[in-house]
Amino acid sequence: MELSYLIDASSMLLRWLHLIVGIAWIGSSFYFVWLDNSLKPPTDPKLKEDGVGGELWAMHGGGFYNPQKYANAPKHLPEDLHFFFWPSYTTWITGFLLISVMYYFQAATFMVDPAVSSITPAQSVGIGIGTLVLGWVVYDQLARLLIERSQLLFAVIYVAFVTVVAYVLTQFLAGRAAYIHVGAMIATTMSANVFFWIIPAQRRQVAAMKRGEPVNPLWGKRAKQRSYHNNYLTMPVLFAMISNHYASTYGHPHAWAVLILIMLGSVLIRHFFNLRHKGEYRWEFPIAGLAILLGVLVWIAPKPPPATTAVPGAPVPTLADVTRIAQERCAGCHAEHPTIMPIAQMGVMLDTPERVKQHAQRIYERAVQLKTMPVANMTNMTDAERAEIAAWYAAGAK
Ligand code: HEC
Repeated sequence: MELSYLIDASSMLLRWLHLIVGIAWIGSSFYFVWLDNSLKPPTDPKLKEDGVGGELWAMHGGGFYNPQKYANAPKHLPEDLHFFFWPSYTTWITGFLLISVMYYFQAATFMVDPAVSSITPAQSVGIGIGTLVLGWVVYDQLARLLIERSQLLFAVIYVAFVTVVAYVLTQFLAGRAAYIHVGAMIATTMSANVFFWIIPAQRRQVAAMKRGEPVNPLWGKRAKQRSYHNNYLTMPVLFAMISNHYASTYGHPHAWAVLILIMLGSVLIRHFFNLRHKGEYRWEFPIAGLAILLGVLVWIAPKPPPATTAVPGAPVPTLADVTRIAQERCAGCHAEHPTIMPIAQMGVMLDTPERVKQHAQRIYERAVQLKTMPVANMTNMTDAERAEIAAWYAAGAK
């Protein structure tokens, strides 16, 4: 088996697993935040006496459920107590393995873009992993300092920090890699919140109860704050994870601003839902969030092709001209039997005139408008060749 196929196969298995455990994590996280926001004080005085602070009734899968949350802790430690940490840890582990396989092992192709900066593949991996660590250290220090004073101030400073990271990364890494690393940085922070704060707080609560000592309510409160942050951070992370499919975002000249605005819009919409669970309807949040998202989409829409050919009077390039360019610059990765990569990337083949004609619009989009192809310009495509494709496309791609 070839190494390139091994990379492909392992990335498939890892991505699949990453999605499964990620859904398990985020699903339970959403459920518990919803639960917390929806609880009502119990009507039964006996429950109140037992220390129950809130409860609710729900139906799911044909059953009636009646979850209860203790204001601080129950009188006795239940024998069978469930923690929810494996989904979070396995999401991080599979995510880190996946980013290693996809980006770090193929850094020359996917981390580095000579059109962006002249760093080496090793440096790019250093920047990538360093970002994950730095992201947690900064978040954690900020949270320790501000979380109890002002959530709003914390949010503003954290957004400013993520903006700086996004800006700096897009100055050094290829667009796709910069985006995925902003997402991976926030996701690492979310997992670290579980690992360093939420689970230790729970262990402390349980240990105190086992010793028969009172449970300090501050532990639970702090864990809850971190858990709440994770809830908001989920939307931005998920966008970053799917962003690699959308070259018009990471390929934009102001890709960092595009990313931050989309992330912000999603957080505003999430905020509406969190308030709504408590019975507050604050429509200004989703309206602002949606306006930002739609505004960004309009802003980054590719411009229509220029009406005239590049050089006035020059003959319009023919399909044969463009096929020759594609065979030279694209077919290494996009052909029935590519030479640079093991299989035709994304199933796109650009090795015959028929196929070039069939993919005319996508060729124009990726090689002329967005310039995200060839990857890292590994095949040294020239601006003149891009102009030729533009002229051919503008004249109807005949
Ligand atoms: C070094 C390898 C390489 C070369 C050379 C290359 N590509 Fe790609 N191409 C890829 C990879 C990897 C992907 C998938 C990732 C992505 O979409 O960015 C891709 C994806 C694409 C897609 C997107 C397909 C989809 O469904 O979204 C198009 C279109 C494309 N390439 C066109 C081109 C054109 C046109 C050229 C030549 C000007 C070219 N590529 C040269 C590696 C390459």
